[in-house]
Amino acid sequence: MSDKKVIFSGVKPSGDLTLGNYLGAIKNWVDLQDEYDCYYCVVDMHAITVHQEPKDLRKRTLEILAQYIAAGIDPEKNTMFIQSHVSAHAELTWVLNSMSYMGQLNRMTQFKEKSKDNADNLNAGLFTYPVLMASDILLYQADLVPVGDDQKQHLELARDLAERFNNRYSPTFVVPEIYTSKVGSRIMGLQDPTSKMSKSGDNENDYILLIDSPKATEKKIKRAVTDSLNKVRYSDDQPGIKNLITIYSKMTGESVESIEAKYEGVGYGKFKSDVAEVVNEGLQPIRDEFERLMNNKDYLEDVYMNGANAAERVARKTLRKVYKKVGFIPRKFK
Ligand code: AMP
Ligand code: TRP
Repeated sequence: MSDKKVIFSGVKPSGDLTLGNYLGAIKNWVDLQDEYDCYYCVVDMHAITVHQEPKDLRKRTLEILAQYIAAGIDPEKNTMFIQSHVSAHAELTWVLNSMSYMGQLNRMTQFKEKSKDNADNLNAGLFTYPVLMASDILLYQADLVPVGDDQKQHLELARDLAERFNNRYSPTFVVPEIYTSKVGSRIMGLQDPTSKMSKSGDNENDYILLIDSPKATEKKIKRAVTDSLNKVRYSDDQPGIKNLITIYSKMTGESVESIEAKYEGVGYGKFKSDVAEVVNEGLQPIRDEFERLMNNKDYLEDVYMNGANAAERVARKTLRKVYKKVGFIPRKFK
C-alpha cells in the first residue's frame, strides 16, 4: 500500500472528449499522476442515464480509455478502469440512495437542466446520478477529485453523504475535496461563450473534439464568436475573447497577463490563428497516439482488465465495511 493521497475522477462516454474535458479535467489528471495514487475511470453507468446506442457506447468507452492514455495518463502508474466492471459502484449506490434526501437531489442544477433536455426520458437514474458519482469517489477513499467547475455541487453532495454516513455509523469514508484549476475550470462554447463547451451540444462549431482534424479545429476557432472591441483582453465584457485567452493559456502554460501583453494592438484574426496553432500543436501528439492505441485493442483490454482487478480489491474492502456497519450479515462462503 502506498502512503500517497488518493485521487478519483471520471468522464462519461456519452460523446467524444472535448477540449473542455481535456483542459478542465484530464490535463490536471496528467499533472497529478506522480504525486497521487490515482483512479481514472470511464463512467459508462453514468452515460446510460441518457439514451445510448449500445454499439456506440461500447465503441466510445474504449475510445475514451484510449484518449486518457493518449493524453498522457500512464496505465503503469494509475488504475484505469471501466465503471461497470466493478459492481461495488452499483452496490454502494443502493446504500447511499437510502441515505439521500429527495429534496437535496431535486436541487441539483445538472438534474434540473437534464430534466429539461430529456423530458421524454426522465428516469430515476438521472435523479440519483450524483449518488452513483458519490459512490465512485467514496469507494476508493479519495482525498481529491479533479473536475471542472460544473461538478462542484455534485462534490458537495458526495461530501455530505460521507459525513452523514460517518456520523450515523462510525468514521468510514474520507471526506473528499474538489480540485479545480484557477484558469480553465470552465471552458465555454465557441459559438455561445456564455455556456460551457459540451459534447452534447448540437452545434458542432461550438466545441472542439480532441480527435478533430487540425483543419476542423482551425476552422472552428476562426469562426468563434467574439466582439467588436478588437482588444485581446481577459474581461467579462468579452466572453468570447476571454475564453480564447483561457484556452491559449491552458495549452501553453503562459499566464493571462503575458498573453494580453503579447497581443496588445494585434487584431483578432491573428490572435485566433495563433490560438488554433497552439491548440493543434498540443493536440497533435494526442491524436497520433490515439490512432496508434485504437489499432492495439489487446493492449487496451489489458489496461482495463488490470485496472478493474486492482480497483475491485479496494472497492470491495470499503463495501464490506459499509455492509457490516449498516447491519447486513456478512456472507458466508463454503
Ligand atoms: P463529462 O463529459 O460531463 O463526463 O465531464 C467530464 C469532466 O470534464 C468533468 O470533470 C467536467 O467537469 C469536465 N468538463 C466538461 N466540460 C467542461 C468544460 N466545458 N470546461 C471545463 N471542464 C469541463
Ligand atoms: N459526473 C461527472 C461529469 O459529468 C462524471 C463523473 C462520474 C465523475 N463519476 C465521477 C467525476 C467521479 C469525478 C468523480 O462530469
